[in-house]
Amino acid sequence: MSHALVVGGTGMMGGVSCWLVGQGMTVSVVARRPHLPCVINPLAVDYRHTDTLQTAMKGAIAEQGAIDRAVCWIHGSAPDAPDAVAAVLDQQAIPVQYVHVLGSAGADPDNWQDGETAAFSQYENLSYQRVVLGFVAMGNGSRWLTHREISDGVIGAIQSRDAVTIVGQIRPWAMRP
Ligand SMILES: NC(=O)c1ccc[n+]([C@@H]2O[C@H](COP(=O)([O-])OP(=O)(O)OC[C@H]3O[C@@H](n4cnc5c(N)ncnc54)[C@H](OP(=O)(O)O)[C@@H]3O)[C@@H](O)[C@H]2O)c1
Repeated sequence: MSHALVVGGTGMMGGVSCWLVGQGMTVSVVARRPHLPCVINPLAVDYRHTDTLQTAMKGAIAEQGAIDRAVCWIHGSAPDAPDAVAAVLDQQAIPVQYVHVLGSAGADPDNWQDGETAAFSQYENLSYQRVVLGFVAMGNGSRWLTHREISDGVIGAIQSRDAVTIVGQIRPWAMRP
């Protein structure tokens, strides 16, 4: 059975984790309290502790098999975690779809960081995709995305395999909520 990893996979990403379960995948979910209304393999770790995170991933791989898809929603409080996850996945020496979900701070078109994509190119077994979470314009105002819109957008990126997916819109950036 195919094995997926979702880091930060509860909350707004819960829909993605449960969708992957529905696709017939074994799904390991990293969160400090990994509870969801679907059957997952919980990895209850704090991703700010890189060694603990990597040890939990290696344990999940040993128990559930190689991870061939990873979705990472990781706060800026853990700047080393996206790379730490990528390193463990790359060591498996199989092709892995790596979907990196980035929040609105990374969405500012004037502050676009293509260097991030370049940094992941060192991992030859990873197919790196970026999902940028934007906002929704409404009349003269705007709002942030709902959990459903976020999960549906990430699921769309998993299916399309597009290198970059914008959920909602990021332009004009000044119109964000
Ligand atoms: N552009 C947009 O519209 C946009 C973008 C981003 C966020 N948002 C909104 O902002 C709300 C808050 O976002 P959020 O990301 O704070 O909450 P969230 O939706 O709960 O997602 C955070 C995820 O990361 C996990 N997590 C957080 N810190 C962790 C840590 N140190 N170690 C391991 N796992 C950790 C959380 O589980 P645990 O807490 O159990 O660890 C959870 O699974 C969202 O619900 C969404 O509505 C909107």
